[in-house]
Amino acid sequence: MALTLVTGGTGHLGRDIVDRLVRNGHRVRLFARSKGVRPDVDWAVGDLATGAGLRDALRDVDTVINAATYSPIARRGGVRPVDFFKSPSAVDVEGTERLLSLCREQSVQHFLHVSIVGLDDATLPYARVKLAGERLVRSSALSWSVVRAMPFYYLLDKMLAGIAWLPVWPMPTTPFNPVDTTDVADHVVACAFDGTRGVRAEFGGPEDVSVATLAGRYRDARGLHRKILPISMSETKARGMGFVVSRGVRGRVAWADWLQRRYPGTRHAA
Ligand SMILES: NC(=O)c1ccc[n+]([C@@H]2O[C@H](COP(=O)([O-])OP(=O)(O)OC[C@H]3O[C@@H](n4cnc5c(N)ncnc54)[C@H](OP(=O)(O)O)[C@@H]3O)[C@@H](O)[C@H]2O)c1
Repeated sequence: MALTLVTGGTGHLGRDIVDRLVRNGHRVRLFARSKGVRPDVDWAVGDLATGAGLRDALRDVDTVINAATYSPIARRGGVRPVDFFKSPSAVDVEGTERLLSLCREQSVQHFLHVSIVGLDDATLPYARVKLAGERLVRSSALSWSVVRAMPFYYLLDKMLAGIAWLPVWPMPTTPFNPVDTTDVADHVVACAFDGTRGVRAEFGGPEDVSVATLAGRYRDARGLHRKILPISMSETKARGMGFVVSRGVRGRVAWADWLQRRYPGTRHAA
């Protein structure tokens, strides 16, 4: 049976991808920095930043789903001044390059790379790093797909939690459609095995609402008493910060429903 290697399979999206692959009866190998407890996958321990363990991990692999990343902002759930100047590239650029080269050596049949909607206009160094990694995939001689997704709900939740102590939340009125990782995982797995290749349909959440509205729903879901201060932003600035609306395919899980599951028992916005 064909074997699929998932990098980043211990991450938020990666876990949902692995769940779906296993449920659909695929043979899955998970590339991770340390061995986890899941008994229904083959664990390959290694590190994308150094290349350790990669060659062994790719043995007999037909399809690679590259969902690994290193985003300091996502890890800590907040932006610091340093994030406007630099972002480490060892995983997303050098790691991707290493992975692509070994995939060619081992005749991998399909390399699916997970990326982010709106990278071309985004200005944060992490976005530039992601774009550089995506470009390596797009110029590779492998048979590849790139799936760009909107920012995930878990990240929005983390970012808003980081500023929750503020009495007033300045929030852009820009429309935005973040998405749940379960919906993205469905799309990624479908794209990995549908026989199509290249830049695939962008994937976003079901609703286009302002960032201020999303923040208001979060505040209500947590039962917080905070003022939302709507701020208007030029389109260029908004795009630079990644506040865009995706084209293409839409997920089903709404932000309000996601919040209800995340914060059960508190008051919810309609
Ligand atoms: N977060 C978003 O809003 C968003 C939106 C659109 C697209 N994406 C893309 O979706 C993908 C998954 O994002 P995510 O938010 O689910 O990521 P995440 O939760 O931060 O998980 C990142 C994964 O990468 C692994 N990783 C990090 N450094 C590694 C290294 N040196 N070697 C091997 N593995 C390493 C992590 O493993 P450990 O468990 O060992 O740390 C983890 O499994 C990424 O390509 C990301 O750019 C994310």
